[in-house]
Amino acid sequence: MSITETEPFFKINVMAPEALSDPQAYLAELREYEPVFWDARYRSWVVTSYRHATAALRDERFSSDRIEPYIRKKLSGPDTDPLVLHAFEVLSGWLVFKEEPAHMRLRGLCSQAFTPPSIAQLRSRVESLCAELLADIPDVGEFDLVQKVATPVPSIIMAEMMGVPVEDRVNFEHWTAQVAPLVSTALDDPTRHEGITQGMGSLVTYFRGLIEHYRKAPEDNLISALISARDDDDILSEAELIATCTLFLFGGHETTANFIANSVLALLRHPDQLALLRDDKVDMKNALEELLRFDGPAKTVVRLAREDFDFGGRQIKQGQRVFVMLSVANRDPKAFEDPNDLRLDRGSVRHIGFGFGGHFCLGAPLARLEAGIAIPQIVKRFPELRLAPKALKWRVLLGVRGLRELYLIAG
Ligand code: HEM
Repeated sequence: MSITETEPFFKINVMAPEALSDPQAYLAELREYEPVFWDARYRSWVVTSYRHATAALRDERFSSDRIEPYIRKKLSGPDTDPLVLHAFEVLSGWLVFKEEPAHMRLRGLCSQAFTPPSIAQLRSRVESLCAELLADIPDVGEFDLVQKVATPVPSIIMAEMMGVPVEDRVNFEHWTAQVAPLVSTALDDPTRHEGITQGMGSLVTYFRGLIEHYRKAPEDNLISALISARDDDDILSEAELIATCTLFLFGGHETTANFIANSVLALLRHPDQLALLRDDKVDMKNALEELLRFDGPAKTVVRLAREDFDFGGRQIKQGQRVFVMLSVANRDPKAFEDPNDLRLDRGSVRHIGFGFGGHFCLGAPLARLEAGIAIPQIVKRFPELRLAPKALKWRVLLGVRGLRELYLIAG
């Protein structure tokens, strides 16, 4: 859709099929002419420029906590299903929804379990896992990259890191898929509360048992490290441990799977860049940041206004919701030269694909490690790799940019 003065922005629908298939193109004119836009359909502000997105994520008048206000407003009545309330209470313990000073305290404790050296030691395991999964795919014919490689790599690694038996992985995928619509802002999905109730209930029961087990018999894994994390006398409570386990599982799984699949798609659409990567002619560190900038999996993060104030020349009212569109900001020509070009040697360190400010992704080193191994292995394993002639099916989510499936032809 092209937007002109005669065809104003009120027609914008951030969940329209064109917006899902190519959000960066669909919202490019909006970013230029109305970077802080009131979306009457979803009664929310949509922030699309790099300047305004980074300003919003730095601005303490925008709150990350949209769960407590929701519980107070919508789930405090006598008719509330206790299971729904419980699922939201677990979510309210997620680091990503916490406000200062509770956020810093929790982040400090969680970081102790998630240190760069503990991530770096996973390298050889990630390498062998990717190689095994790729070896199972026949040299010729079609396969779904999402199902065969992109999903299992982060999900097996996260299960192993947490000390979860690998046979429970299938359950985990199912439960996180149930939680995903609500957490990933599936604006139009009426079943999102049902899904989170079932998925979260199962995850909580499962993790409660596992935490009890590792309290008695600690091992070298993330759950044991979370149990023993302490700052003076401060430790994580049982509820915080459960919330953090569910967040790590969710954060460590869907996002990286989408990152791997989006990146392979982008490379197949840019054969010159693919050739550079395949021939080891690019620095993988730079390449990963550029792939995240170009089409990263975190499309939007949400904030709530704490008070009435002026932002970007618009009057924001207390309690209003703000969609900060990271993936559209990452293609802002005012921040990146020729932003719609994929240039693996760009070294785009300023992208905001992992967020920006105090809530910057805690799992970034793990995501970089996994994707930095999986992506080159995939394209090197199949020298003739190409897209299968099938329509791409993007997930109907505002928060996440990800494919349901990505069929490729191996050779
Ligand atoms: C390519 C993969 C990933 C992307 C694009 C991504 C993106 C993001 C973004 C945008 C945020 C900020 C959210 C906000 O400001 O509201 C975030 C936070 C977070 N991510 Fe990731 N993430 C990825 C992988 C991971 C992994 C593997 C983990 C591991 C468990 C993880 C754990 C977290 C946690 C715990 C936070 C909350 C940090 C805080 O609030 O202080 N993420 N992530």
